[in-house]
Amino acid sequence: MTSVLVTGGSGRLGRAVLERLVEAGYEVRATSRSPRGPAGRVRWVVADLTTGRGLAEAVAGADAIVHLASAPYKGRYTRRVELDGTSALLTAAREAGVRHVVYTSIVGADQVPWGYFRTKVRAERLIRDGGVPWTILRATQFHEFVEQALRGMARLGVVVADPGVPAQPVDVRDVARHLGSLVERGPGQEIENFGGPEVMTMAQAAERWLRARGLRRWVLRVRLPGTLGRAFRAGHLTTKAQPAGEITWGEYLRGT
Ligand SMILES: NC(=O)c1ccc[n+]([C@@H]2O[C@H](COP(=O)([O-])OP(=O)(O)OC[C@H]3O[C@@H](n4cnc5c(N)ncnc54)[C@H](OP(=O)(O)O)[C@@H]3O)[C@@H](O)[C@H]2O)c1
Repeated sequence: MTSVLVTGGSGRLGRAVLERLVEAGYEVRATSRSPRGPAGRVRWVVADLTTGRGLAEAVAGADAIVHLASAPYKGRYTRRVELDGTSALLTAAREAGVRHVVYTSIVGADQVPWGYFRTKVRAERLIRDGGVPWTILRATQFHEFVEQALRGMARLGVVVADPGVPAQPVDVRDVARHLGSLVERGPGQEIENFGGPEVMTMAQAAERWLRARGLRRWVLRVRLPGTLGRAFRAGHLTTKAQPAGEITWGEYLRGT
Protein backbone atom coordinates (compact mmCIF):
# COMPACT_ATOMS: atom_id res chain seq x y z
CA MET A 1 0.00 0.00 0.00
CA THR A 2 1.28 3.50 -0.82
CA SER A 3 2.35 5.34 2.28
CA VAL A 4 2.00 9.13 2.46
CA LEU A 5 3.44 11.48 5.08
CA VAL A 6 1.67 14.80 5.66
CA THR A 7 3.69 17.49 7.45
CA GLY A 8 1.47 20.05 9.17
CA GLY A 9 -1.32 17.49 9.38
CA SER A 10 -2.92 19.39 12.26
CA GLY A 11 -3.34 22.61 10.26
CA ARG A 12 -6.33 24.02 8.34
CA LEU A 13 -5.41 22.32 5.08
CA GLY A 14 -3.67 19.40 6.82
CA ARG A 15 -6.85 18.13 8.48
CA ALA A 16 -8.72 18.09 5.15
CA VAL A 17 -5.80 16.40 3.39
CA LEU A 18 -5.63 13.63 6.01
CA GLU A 19 -9.33 12.95 5.55
CA ARG A 20 -8.97 12.84 1.76
CA LEU A 21 -5.93 10.54 1.76
CA VAL A 22 -7.46 8.11 4.25
CA GLU A 23 -10.64 8.05 2.15
CA ALA A 24 -8.53 7.28 -0.94
CA GLY A 25 -7.06 4.25 0.80
CA TYR A 26 -3.47 5.40 1.46
CA GLU A 27 -1.51 4.45 4.54
CA VAL A 28 -1.30 7.88 6.15
CA ARG A 29 1.03 9.31 8.77
CA ALA A 30 1.22 12.93 9.85
CA THR A 31 3.56 15.13 11.84
CA SER A 32 2.81 17.54 14.65
CA ARG A 33 5.10 19.13 17.21
CA SER A 34 2.74 17.95 19.96
CA PRO A 35 1.90 14.34 20.75
CA ARG A 36 -1.54 13.37 19.47
CA GLY A 37 -3.59 10.36 20.39
CA PRO A 38 -4.56 7.71 17.85
CA ALA A 39 -6.78 9.34 15.24
CA GLY A 40 -8.51 6.58 13.33
CA ARG A 41 -6.37 5.56 10.41
CA VAL A 42 -3.72 8.29 10.75
CA ARG A 43 -0.44 7.52 12.55
CA TRP A 44 0.91 10.66 14.23
CA VAL A 45 4.65 11.23 14.57
CA VAL A 46 6.01 13.99 16.80
CA ALA A 47 8.37 16.01 14.60
CA ASP A 48 9.74 19.53 14.50
CA LEU A 49 11.17 20.91 11.27
CA THR A 50 13.31 23.49 13.05
CA THR A 51 15.18 20.99 15.24
CA GLY A 52 14.98 17.90 13.02
CA ARG A 53 13.45 15.97 15.89
CA GLY A 54 11.37 13.03 14.60
CA LEU A 55 12.00 13.68 10.89
CA ALA A 56 13.85 10.40 10.20
CA GLU A 57 11.07 8.42 11.86
CA ALA A 58 8.40 10.41 10.00
CA VAL A 59 9.85 9.80 6.52
CA ALA A 60 10.96 6.17 6.99
CA GLY A 61 9.01 4.01 4.55
CA ALA A 62 7.03 6.93 3.06
CA ASP A 63 6.50 6.83 -0.70
CA ALA A 64 5.28 10.42 -0.91
CA ILE A 65 5.26 13.52 1.27
CA VAL A 66 2.65 16.26 1.23
CA HIS A 67 4.58 19.10 2.85
CA LEU A 68 2.17 21.60 4.42
CA ALA A 69 3.92 22.61 7.66
CA SER A 70 4.36 26.36 7.83
CA ALA A 71 4.51 29.17 10.36
CA PRO A 72 3.37 32.30 8.51
CA TYR A 73 4.09 35.87 9.56
CA LYS A 74 6.44 34.96 12.42
CA GLY A 75 9.59 36.62 11.09
CA ARG A 76 12.73 34.59 11.66
CA TYR A 77 10.78 31.56 12.86
CA THR A 78 8.87 31.52 9.55
CA ARG A 79 12.14 31.29 7.66
CA ARG A 80 13.43 28.58 9.98
CA VAL A 81 10.36 26.44 9.32
CA GLU A 82 10.00 27.16 5.60
CA LEU A 83 13.68 27.19 4.60
CA ASP A 84 15.81 25.30 7.14
CA GLY A 85 12.89 22.97 7.86
CA THR A 86 12.18 22.23 4.21
CA SER A 87 15.91 21.55 3.62
CA ALA A 88 16.03 19.17 6.57
CA LEU A 89 12.90 17.41 5.36
CA LEU A 90 14.35 17.04 1.85
CA THR A 91 17.60 15.59 3.23
CA ALA A 92 15.67 13.05 5.28
CA ALA A 93 13.43 12.27 2.28
CA ARG A 94 16.41 11.68 -0.03
CA GLU A 95 18.03 9.39 2.51
CA ALA A 96 14.79 7.44 2.93
CA GLY A 97 14.25 7.11 -0.85
CA VAL A 98 10.97 9.06 -0.93
CA ARG A 99 9.71 9.20 -4.53
CA HIS A 100 7.55 12.34 -4.54
CA VAL A 101 7.28 15.53 -2.50
CA VAL A 102 4.28 17.80 -2.99
CA TYR A 103 4.73 21.32 -1.63
CA THR A 104 1.97 23.89 -1.14
CA SER A 105 2.73 27.50 -1.97
CA ILE A 106 0.59 30.55 -2.74
CA VAL A 107 -0.80 31.91 -6.02
CA GLY A 108 1.17 35.03 -6.91
CA ALA A 109 4.06 34.13 -4.59
CA ASP A 110 6.52 35.27 -7.26
CA GLN A 111 4.59 38.49 -8.06
CA VAL A 112 3.64 39.93 -4.70
CA PRO A 113 6.42 41.79 -2.84
CA TRP A 114 5.56 40.52 0.64
CA GLY A 115 7.92 38.82 3.10
CA TYR A 116 6.01 35.56 3.55
CA PHE A 117 5.46 35.21 -0.20
CA ARG A 118 9.18 35.75 -0.85
CA THR A 119 9.99 33.04 1.68
CA LYS A 120 7.56 30.69 -0.10
CA VAL A 121 9.38 31.29 -3.41
CA ARG A 122 12.71 30.50 -1.75
CA ALA A 123 11.21 27.31 -0.34
CA GLU A 124 9.85 26.41 -3.80
CA ARG A 125 13.42 26.72 -5.10
CA LEU A 126 14.65 24.32 -2.39
CA ILE A 127 11.97 21.82 -3.41
CA ARG A 128 12.89 22.12 -7.10
CA ASP A 129 16.60 21.61 -6.39
CA GLY A 130 16.14 19.15 -3.55
CA GLY A 131 16.83 15.89 -5.39
CA VAL A 132 13.39 14.41 -4.68
CA PRO A 133 10.88 14.32 -7.58
CA TRP A 134 8.41 17.10 -6.88
CA THR A 135 5.17 18.93 -7.57
CA ILE A 136 4.36 22.43 -6.30
CA LEU A 137 0.77 23.56 -5.90
CA ARG A 138 0.18 27.28 -5.44
CA ALA A 139 -3.26 27.84 -3.92
CA THR A 140 -5.26 31.03 -3.41
CA GLN A 141 -6.34 32.15 0.11
CA PHE A 142 -8.29 29.56 2.08
CA HIS A 143 -11.84 30.42 3.20
CA GLU A 144 -10.86 29.98 6.86
CA PHE A 145 -7.87 32.28 6.42
CA VAL A 146 -9.99 35.04 4.84
CA GLU A 147 -12.55 34.67 7.63
CA GLN A 148 -9.83 34.84 10.28
CA ALA A 149 -8.46 38.06 8.76
CA LEU A 150 -11.94 39.61 8.55
CA ARG A 151 -12.76 38.56 12.12
CA GLY A 152 -9.53 40.16 13.34
CA MET A 153 -10.48 43.49 11.76
CA ALA A 154 -14.13 43.25 12.87
CA ARG A 155 -12.94 42.92 16.48
CA LEU A 156 -11.29 46.31 16.08
CA GLY A 157 -14.64 47.72 14.97
CA VAL A 158 -14.05 48.31 11.26
CA VAL A 159 -13.26 46.11 8.26
CA VAL A 160 -10.73 47.62 5.88
CA ALA A 161 -10.85 46.45 2.25
CA ASP A 162 -9.44 47.76 -1.01
CA PRO A 163 -12.37 47.61 -3.48
CA GLY A 164 -9.87 47.21 -6.34
CA VAL A 165 -8.32 43.98 -5.03
CA PRO A 166 -9.75 40.84 -6.59
CA ALA A 167 -9.79 37.76 -4.37
CA GLN A 168 -10.54 34.15 -5.23
CA PRO A 169 -10.82 32.28 -1.95
CA VAL A 170 -10.73 28.51 -2.08
CA ASP A 171 -12.02 25.80 0.20
CA VAL A 172 -9.48 23.53 1.88
CA ARG A 173 -11.67 20.51 0.97
CA ASP A 174 -11.19 21.35 -2.72
CA VAL A 175 -7.45 21.92 -2.29
CA ALA A 176 -7.20 18.62 -0.41
CA ARG A 177 -9.02 16.78 -3.19
CA HIS A 178 -6.64 18.28 -5.76
CA LEU A 179 -3.57 17.45 -3.68
CA GLY A 180 -4.89 13.89 -3.48
CA SER A 181 -5.01 13.73 -7.27
CA LEU A 182 -1.43 15.07 -7.49
CA VAL A 183 -0.24 12.34 -5.12
CA GLU A 184 -2.07 9.80 -7.28
CA ARG A 185 -0.56 11.21 -10.50
CA GLY A 186 3.06 11.29 -9.24
CA PRO A 187 5.74 13.96 -9.65
CA GLY A 188 4.89 16.54 -12.29
CA GLN A 189 8.12 18.56 -11.82
CA GLU A 190 6.02 21.68 -12.32
CA ILE A 191 4.31 24.51 -10.48
CA GLU A 192 0.53 24.45 -10.74
CA ASN A 193 -2.01 27.05 -9.63
CA PHE A 194 -5.31 26.27 -7.93
CA GLY A 195 -8.01 28.79 -7.06
CA GLY A 196 -11.58 29.00 -5.88
CA PRO A 197 -14.61 28.94 -8.20
CA GLU A 198 -15.30 32.71 -8.22
CA VAL A 199 -13.47 36.01 -8.20
CA MET A 200 -14.84 38.86 -6.08
CA THR A 201 -13.39 42.00 -4.60
CA MET A 202 -12.14 41.92 -1.02
CA ALA A 203 -14.86 44.46 -0.17
CA GLN A 204 -17.57 42.12 -1.56
CA ALA A 205 -16.08 39.19 0.35
CA ALA A 206 -16.16 41.29 3.53
CA GLU A 207 -19.80 42.39 3.02
CA ARG A 208 -20.96 38.82 2.40
CA TRP A 209 -19.10 37.66 5.49
CA LEU A 210 -20.63 40.37 7.69
CA ARG A 211 -24.12 39.47 6.45
CA ALA A 212 -23.60 35.72 6.93
CA ARG A 213 -22.28 36.19 10.47
CA GLY A 214 -24.95 38.74 11.41
CA LEU A 215 -22.39 41.45 12.21
CA ARG A 216 -22.84 45.17 11.72
CA ARG A 217 -19.53 46.81 10.85
CA TRP A 218 -18.49 49.58 8.54
CA VAL A 219 -16.48 48.37 5.52
CA LEU A 220 -13.84 51.04 5.07
CA ARG A 221 -12.86 51.09 1.40
CA VAL A 222 -9.22 52.10 1.29
CA ARG A 223 -6.78 51.97 -1.60
CA LEU A 224 -3.80 49.99 -0.33
CA PRO A 225 -0.62 52.02 -0.90
CA GLY A 226 2.67 51.16 -2.55
CA THR A 227 3.91 48.21 -4.58
CA LEU A 228 1.99 45.74 -2.41
CA GLY A 229 -1.32 47.48 -3.18
CA ARG A 230 -0.45 47.60 -6.90
CA ALA A 231 0.40 43.87 -6.93
CA PHE A 232 -2.87 42.99 -5.20
CA ARG A 233 -4.92 45.23 -7.52
CA ALA A 234 -3.19 43.69 -10.56
CA GLY A 235 -4.94 40.42 -9.67
CA HIS A 236 -1.86 38.47 -8.63
CA LEU A 237 -3.85 36.70 -5.90
CA THR A 238 -6.11 35.13 -8.52
CA THR A 239 -5.66 32.51 -11.21
CA LYS A 240 -7.50 31.28 -14.31
CA ALA A 241 -6.02 27.80 -13.88
CA GLN A 242 -8.26 24.79 -14.34
CA PRO A 243 -9.28 22.67 -12.59
CA ALA A 244 -10.44 25.03 -9.86
CA GLY A 245 -12.29 24.52 -6.60
CA GLU A 246 -16.08 24.10 -6.55
CA ILE A 247 -17.12 25.22 -3.07
CA THR A 248 -18.02 28.91 -3.11
CA TRP A 249 -17.49 31.55 -0.40
CA GLY A 250 -21.27 31.62 0.06
CA GLU A 251 -21.44 27.84 0.54
CA TYR A 252 -18.59 27.96 3.03
CA LEU A 253 -20.35 30.75 4.94
CA ARG A 254 -23.57 28.72 5.04
CA GLY A 255 -21.58 25.81 6.48
CA THR A 256 -22.11 23.54 3.50
N1 LIG B 1 -3.80 29.80 4.66
C1 LIG B 1 -3.94 30.10 3.38
O1 LIG B 1 -4.85 30.85 2.97
C2 LIG B 1 -2.98 29.48 2.37
C3 LIG B 1 -3.14 29.79 1.00
C4 LIG B 1 -2.29 29.19 0.08
C5 LIG B 1 -1.30 28.33 0.50
N2 LIG B 1 -1.15 28.07 1.83
C6 LIG B 1 -0.10 27.13 2.25
O2 LIG B 1 -0.72 25.91 2.63
C7 LIG B 1 0.05 25.30 3.68
C8 LIG B 1 -0.86 24.97 4.86
O3 LIG B 1 -1.42 26.17 5.34
P1 LIG B 1 -2.46 26.18 6.56
O4 LIG B 1 -3.11 27.52 6.54
O5 LIG B 1 -3.27 24.94 6.53
O6 LIG B 1 -1.44 26.11 7.79
P2 LIG B 1 -1.76 26.22 9.35
O7 LIG B 1 -3.20 25.96 9.64
O8 LIG B 1 -1.13 27.48 9.84
O9 LIG B 1 -0.95 24.98 9.93
C9 LIG B 1 0.45 25.00 9.96
C10 LIG B 1 0.97 23.63 10.34
O10 LIG B 1 2.39 23.69 10.39
C11 LIG B 1 2.83 22.96 11.51
N3 LIG B 1 4.08 23.53 12.00
C12 LIG B 1 4.32 24.82 12.40
N4 LIG B 1 5.59 24.94 12.83
C13 LIG B 1 6.18 23.72 12.67
C14 LIG B 1 7.47 23.20 12.94
N5 LIG B 1 8.44 23.96 13.48
N6 LIG B 1 7.71 21.90 12.67
C15 LIG B 1 6.74 21.11 12.16
N7 LIG B 1 5.50 21.53 11.89
C16 LIG B 1 5.22 22.83 12.15
C17 LIG B 1 1.71 23.05 12.55
O11 LIG B 1 1.69 21.84 13.28
P3 LIG B 1 1.75 21.71 14.89
O12 LIG B 1 1.38 23.05 15.46
O13 LIG B 1 0.75 20.63 15.20
O14 LIG B 1 3.15 21.30 15.17
C18 LIG B 1 0.45 23.12 11.66
O15 LIG B 1 -0.08 21.83 11.44
C19 LIG B 1 1.19 26.27 4.00
O16 LIG B 1 2.33 25.90 3.29
C20 LIG B 1 0.69 27.60 3.47
O17 LIG B 1 1.73 28.48 3.08
C21 LIG B 1 -1.97 28.61 2.77
